[in-house]
Amino acid sequence: MTATSTTINAADPLVARIDDLRRLRRAVILAHNYQLGEIQDLADFTGDSLELSRQAARTDAEVIVFCGVRFMAETAAVLSPDKLVLHPEPRAGCPLADMIAADELRALKGAHPGVPVVCYVNTSAEVKAESDCCCTSANAARVVEAMPGPEVIFVPDHNLGLWVQQHTSKRLLLWRGYCPTHNKITAEDVRRALEQHPEAEVIAHPECRPEVLDLAHQVLSTGGMIRRARETPARTVIVATELGIIHRLQKEAPDKRFLPVSRHAVCPNMKRITLEKVLWSLEDMSGQVQVPRDIAAGARRALDRMLEIG
Ligand code: 13P
Repeated sequence: MTATSTTINAADPLVARIDDLRRLRRAVILAHNYQLGEIQDLADFTGDSLELSRQAARTDAEVIVFCGVRFMAETAAVLSPDKLVLHPEPRAGCPLADMIAADELRALKGAHPGVPVVCYVNTSAEVKAESDCCCTSANAARVVEAMPGPEVIFVPDHNLGLWVQQHTSKRLLLWRGYCPTHNKITAEDVRRALEQHPEAEVIAHPECRPEVLDLAHQVLSTGGMIRRARETPARTVIVATELGIIHRLQKEAPDKRFLPVSRHAVCPNMKRITLEKVLWSLEDMSGQVQVPRDIAAGARRALDRMLEIG
């Protein structure tokens, strides 16, 4: 297994045209760490969900081109209501976010009255609006711990919930959602990689199965993985998350080796955003993300509370 990387060619006419339009439209391009290498290289800022939410909330650009999946672009629109948010491929959804609908959450709340709800950022704005607070993989345990009372409803990621349960005094009521990409990674994949590279450090995303997390040396958000890439004394790192991050890890620490634990850990939705689609959305101002005002207000409350907790 070897890491792959793409270096963007600034002389590429496509990139030059995007640059022109980015200036003309006063746009900022935000990209998630799972995006294609050429999109990461083009972006003004690449990061994890929490870092991207903070960027979206503070940017003074007029237009945000969001390269990620739909809930991420929607979050940017909620946090920056006076900006135009463009999602270059509106069909790039998140199956995990689709695993809980607002009416399902309302029913769950009805069955557990008074229990606060923490929703993972991988949810629709409507589900966020039904929640007390949002969280990302970078702050989930901190957010849960900050909730009042002994119990917390945590939706929709079951693996992340089980992970948080180990780091909180609260009793969590979990939903059965999962990320199909992370769920494909098995403990056998990790054992096989460790057999080949016994000296390596294993880093894993908390959306992985518990038996995968048990074998990891570090369980981190994608942003945490980037920081760990720079800091770890290990020369070889086995990475249990979506493959797109290898590009960024390799860029951050070119003297180290980052090996994907599984070649199958690809999020097809993240890969739907291409340079051409970024160009088209900037040309036509297409893919505008609109969240109905009442839903946006509710989602904003849950997101602001998360950003306050940190
Ligand atoms: P991070 O917030 O760790 O980047 O994770 C986002 C995500 O969607 C993982 O599947």
